[in-house]
Amino acid sequence: MRLFKTKKIRSELLAICVGLLLFTISCQKIPTDYAVSDKYRLVWNNDPQTSVTLGWNQLQSSEIEVLFGTKDHGRKYWKYRNKVNPTDGNSKYGMNTEFALLDNLKPGTNYYFVVKDKVGVSDRFWFKTAPAEPTAFTFVAGGDTKSSGLPLEAGRASNRLVSKLRPLFVVFNGDFTGSHGTDSLLWQLWLDDWFGLTTTDDGLMIPILPVHGNHENGDRANLNYIFNSPYQNNDSSQIYYSATIGGNLLHVIALNSEIETGGAQKKWLEDDLKKNENCTFKAAVYHKPFRPHYTGKRENDYQYNQWVWLFDKYGLDISIDADSHIHKITYPVSPDTLSAKAEMGFIRNDEKGTMYFGEGSWGARPRENDDDKSWTLSSGSFNQIKWIHVFPDENKTPAHLNIYTVKSASYDSDKNQTLYDVNVDALTEDDLFGIPKNITLFEDDIFGNVVKYPFHSNN
Ligand SMILES: [Fe+2]
Repeated sequence: MRLFKTKKIRSELLAICVGLLLFTISCQKIPTDYAVSDKYRLVWNNDPQTSVTLGWNQLQSSEIEVLFGTKDHGRKYWKYRNKVNPTDGNSKYGMNTEFALLDNLKPGTNYYFVVKDKVGVSDRFWFKTAPAEPTAFTFVAGGDTKSSGLPLEAGRASNRLVSKLRPLFVVFNGDFTGSHGTDSLLWQLWLDDWFGLTTTDDGLMIPILPVHGNHENGDRANLNYIFNSPYQNNDSSQIYYSATIGGNLLHVIALNSEIETGGAQKKWLEDDLKKNENCTFKAAVYHKPFRPHYTGKRENDYQYNQWVWLFDKYGLDISIDADSHIHKITYPVSPDTLSAKAEMGFIRNDEKGTMYFGEGSWGARPRENDDDKSWTLSSGSFNQIKWIHVFPDENKTPAHLNIYTVKSASYDSDKNQTLYDVNVDALTEDDLFGIPKNITLFEDDIFGNVVKYPFHSNN
């Protein structure tokens, strides 16, 4: 009898406790104070189908947590199902940088998150994981930003275009700041702009896949400090890596033209190409082009010799570079140093060639496109980003890429700048493949405003 009574009291006490707990939770209020952090960026460092790295600058305070989940709870941090503490960090360039790896995520899924610390809670942001099945998506590629004057403004216009186009991710092909990558204020400015201008009005943050350029050479581990980028051979100056998106739809290989391009990197490249040979599209992204389309830049013969034969052997589809501050896109080309019709080591090969594009003028002042070859499809002198639509084999339409060149700024003969982002209508989640009203696309006499790959699909 006594035992029965004790049990009853215990269960009543438990019920009261649970009730009190539920009451406390329901009385939780959205915090008025904000977390003391800024310069948020999302980075693809591991498998983008199941993970993303969040980086930010923690200004003070402690007890830092990233709370996230597939349901949008706004700033009601206690409602998110998952929680992670910072997994890495550093104190380079006047910032207290924290990184949190969000992993074991579901592919092709929207995730919502807040950053919380002892003081408060950040705004609510969200991101998408890459699909793990062949699914259509878009991405933006480009490089070369500067840290002052009109080039800074041109870069900001390109950033704003990213938020309007809402791509799945951005490949940034190197040269982030106007210095050598060791100036604290310039990195801080770049990160403020990136977060402030590429994040959409509804808080969608677009992951970056960063590439090392010569303006990061002041410390070749820079991308690791800023983006927690992975490196090879236990050497933080050896930053090159790859990522696969959409099952086997697109494999992106981020190479480093600013270190030894042969040796260990060449071996890694061959292994990576071999492992991913069956991907529908294989893309190499790096900073310095083999054959710049601006006479002021030297030819990169050594880099050509290390990589181009592997690109050819394993059927690389597209190659995106930067550095010259112009727009260029080539016909599909194959390496050829022997035949009379070849020029500068390449020959047009519509069936099996690699299409090279980019040459980077995200923000940096455009240079003259004064070095076209017989295999150049088009080039131009203006600020631009590349917007690539990736389509899998679907509904009797074979897999293909639509490559758009989006103008962000240009200059007249008096060096007056025109920005092209201002009146562009932002895309919505319902239509990520439409051409936004008032966007300025580069138009070629033959191909119009889009170049398709495989090349025969242009007909
Ligand atoms: Fe460069």
